[in-house]
Amino acid sequence: MSNFQVAIDGPAGSGKSSISDLVAEKLDFTHIDTGAMYRAVCLEALNRGINLENEAEYTFLKDISVENIKKHTYLNGVDVSKEIRTPKVSANVSTVSKMKSVRDKMVDFQRASASKGLVLMDGRDIGTVVLKDADVKIFLTASVECRALRRYKELIQNGEEASLEEIKKAIAERDYKDSHREISPLKKADDAIEVDTTKMTIEEVCNKIISIISERMNSNGKF
Ligand code: CDP
Ligand code: CDP
Repeated sequence: MSNFQVAIDGPAGSGKSSISDLVAEKLDFTHIDTGAMYRAVCLEALNRGINLENEAEYTFLKDISVENIKKHTYLNGVDVSKEIRTPKVSANVSTVSKMKSVRDKMVDFQRASASKGLVLMDGRDIGTVVLKDADVKIFLTASVECRALRRYKELIQNGEEASLEEIKKAIAERDYKDSHREISPLKKADDAIEVDTTKMTIEEVCNKIISIISERMNSNGKF
């Protein structure tokens, strides 16, 4: 079976997960959501009540398993897809994911799951670190106002309470932490194609990405 890797990176709310899901479904790729994996480690760290800033307390890493299969995330075999989306996890995940031991373990898992077949992986460091030789690299962006509004609408639709200003502040804080950390910060790979989605619908972004992937597969003789 031929191997083809697509890396999609970008800040919170740029559309990585929803677009990756749709593109993967249409092209029959396996989608791996690496953000969900970091969220699962954060959930475990919170449940254990460790001091998140102290790397020495992350000894539990050697015993955990984290998997992301078909839109579900499993922590030690238990489906935690809902629990990893709480505001508490969102507020703490950047602290957990800056730790070297956490990144080393997740990158190993991620590379192992992308070693065969048609894979589309989304996150923050996929094109720069995890799959440096990916066949296609996309960097999704959108203004912080637009990304906050998308998240706000999502929460309201789910019947939850939300403040647009607070969401915008939380997203800007996470953007800052993710792009200023020492190891594998969020940044566009030199050879990534940047797509500003501020004024684009999900369908428009999907079509654009599908055409980029199809063109590359054709020119690589893999389609
Ligand atoms: O969906 P959203 O953009 O809110 O975030 P996510 O993709 O679920 O990622 C959650 C967090 O995990 C990010 O804010 C990063 O701190 C971390 N992350 C990372 O460090 N490296 C990745 N490859 C993916 C996520
Ligand atoms: O994974 P990431 O945090 O980058 O974004 P997402 O969870 O895929 O998208 C955040 C929200 O924006 C979702 O509710 C999407 O439906 C919405 N969205 C949108 O309205 N227009 C786009 N072009 C992309 C995403």
